[in-house]
Amino acid sequence: MRRKLLLGNWKMNKLASEAKEFAVASRDLAKKAEANNIDLGVAPTYLSLATVKENAAKTMIVAAQNVHFNDHGAFTGEVSIPMLKEFGIDWVLIGHSERRTYDNETNEKCNAKIKALIANNMVPVYCVGETLEQFEANQTKAVVGEQVRVGLKELTAEDVKNLVVAYEPVWSIGTGKNASTEIAEDVCKFIRDVLREMFGDVADEIRVLYGGSVKPENIKAYLSCPDVDGGLVGGASLKIDSYEALLNNIL
Ligand code: PGA
Repeated sequence: MRRKLLLGNWKMNKLASEAKEFAVASRDLAKKAEANNIDLGVAPTYLSLATVKENAAKTMIVAAQNVHFNDHGAFTGEVSIPMLKEFGIDWVLIGHSERRTYDNETNEKCNAKIKALIANNMVPVYCVGETLEQFEANQTKAVVGEQVRVGLKELTAEDVKNLVVAYEPVWSIGTGKNASTEIAEDVCKFIRDVLREMFGDVADEIRVLYGGSVKPENIKAYLSCPDVDGGLVGGASLKIDSYEALLNNIL
């Protein structure tokens, strides 16, 4: 049985002071989530990771939005895995479409990061998804299949058992144009099939999330799809009331 996961992606939002306020306000929600067997988390900016980790409940997952695959060195502007670990951060989003679009994050680069995270017993949340152009050209499965195969190459079944994959159609992110539950289920099931082909039965343990304009009003429908194990939520995770409503609607 896969545990549900609700993960907020704050992107480049919230000052550290605002992140702290949210973390304190989220303590009761984390308890409620735990009591209902749901994993709850947020991905703040690097500068807010420490304050969220310190001020949120112990059970709250605190994820970074990116990481470098080298431990240290001449990589101006980057942050490494040991730096995150020192703050107790062990989850990281990898390959979010905004990073693929604006920062040239390729499937190969994602693979290097995912391998480095797994070697350090950390949990990658690997984001995949097609653009509007690719969706309209019926290339969704070709694109997503390639992202999964290359992003997770040279890994074993043991390596990927804690991995999370998030399917986020680029055309639905921040646009209010969310994918239908049929599309979400179809692609999340396809991802699980690719994972099964690559790694065998462990595919049934890997959580696959849907993301893209998830809101309190639609989250329940997504999570009732058999292959959708949770949500990666941007805009609707920023305000504590909306975040609480997301959780309440999947209890
Ligand atoms: P959104 O973003 O919920 O604002 O569409 C989702 C994401 O980019 O992870």
